[in-house]
Amino acid sequence: MKALVCVSLGPAENLKVMEAPPPAAKAGEVVVDVVYAALNFFDTLIIEGKYQLKPEPPFSPAGEFAGRVAAVGPGVERFAVGDRVMGSTGYGAAREQIAIAAGRLAPVPAGLPLDKAAGLSIAYGTTLHALKQRAELQPGESLVVLGASGGVGLAAVEIGKAMGARVIACASSDDKLAFARGYGASETINYATEDFRARLKALTGGKGVDIVYDPVGGALTEAALRSLAWKGRLLVIGFASGEIPKPPLNLTLLKGCDIRGVYWGEFVVREPEAHRDNMSQLLSWAESGRLKVHVHAKFPIEAYLQAFEAISRRQALGKVLLQLGGDA
Ligand SMILES: NC(=O)c1ccc[n+]([C@@H]2O[C@H](COP(=O)([O-])OP(=O)(O)OC[C@H]3O[C@@H](n4cnc5c(N)ncnc54)[C@H](OP(=O)(O)O)[C@@H]3O)[C@@H](O)[C@H]2O)c1
Repeated sequence: MKALVCVSLGPAENLKVMEAPPPAAKAGEVVVDVVYAALNFFDTLIIEGKYQLKPEPPFSPAGEFAGRVAAVGPGVERFAVGDRVMGSTGYGAAREQIAIAAGRLAPVPAGLPLDKAAGLSIAYGTTLHALKQRAELQPGESLVVLGASGGVGLAAVEIGKAMGARVIACASSDDKLAFARGYGASETINYATEDFRARLKALTGGKGVDIVYDPVGGALTEAALRSLAWKGRLLVIGFASGEIPKPPLNLTLLKGCDIRGVYWGEFVVREPEAHRDNMSQLLSWAESGRLKVHVHAKFPIEAYLQAFEAISRRQALGKVLLQLGGDA
């Protein structure tokens, strides 16, 4: 079987498509024929050894996938050969087959296409956890989303809208903002050309915003923190800009506001029941069409460089997929 492999840490140019031995299902495991593996921003870091998770090469990137069950190991009763499934692995999904613990899989509902299911776990899982458990978002609150057309950003626009927020999408180009409007943003700010703080002040009648969803970091974070309302919440999602900001803490005192960290991978391990509830909510919203889960593009495994470049060149709108099998 084919696998995309990081043979030595470095840029995406160093990855290789190789033949690898097919896996076997041990007790409690399922072998999945991967149809789509989804890439996230962190895949561009993990292959360079710059992410918090540091697997030793050789390993495959891609932390989430959807496909069909090819074999079940002893003791697995929830799944049968042919079932459509999705799941997350941290890394390792960019191969035609993977073996994974049955507990890490969810069945894909009949009405949900596999390409949308592949990208649902991480970006949408992170975002529902962020807005529900961390921000405690209430209907009618204002939600500012930075990087609103990217993987987690678009998820925040869609889920924020589904939870009843007034979504203000923020991004670096007018095309990206028009795209975010199509997914539920009611207002937009181009932070490359507009006065970000002045616009937020005007849009909220001087009150400030209730929640900021920040996957970008850098200088935008302090500007967003300064734009929070009394008792506002700033969600620390990630640092796609490459800069971890160090905002002055007196701002939290003056606004009685919170900076709240979000770490989905730990949430899944530490609060499995809440995670399962979140996933069933996401699957039901996605199956009903309330979440559209936009796919930017599906790249064959040989075109992995283009897939990685869509993310690193800041071009990806929604989810970037590698296609490893037939989707019929
Ligand atoms: N905390 C968690 O549990 C968790 C879970 C998943 C992801 N994350 C983090 O969330 C962040 C975004 O991940 P993602 O997969 O959504 O990424 P993505 O699809 O590539 O989106 C990132 C967005 O950030 C903006 N950006 C600003 N500077 C950038 C730069 N130098 N390079 C690339 N993008 C830049 C871009 O929007 P504009 O051009 O509009 O600025 C882009 O759309 C990452 O830091 C990731 O590690 C955290």
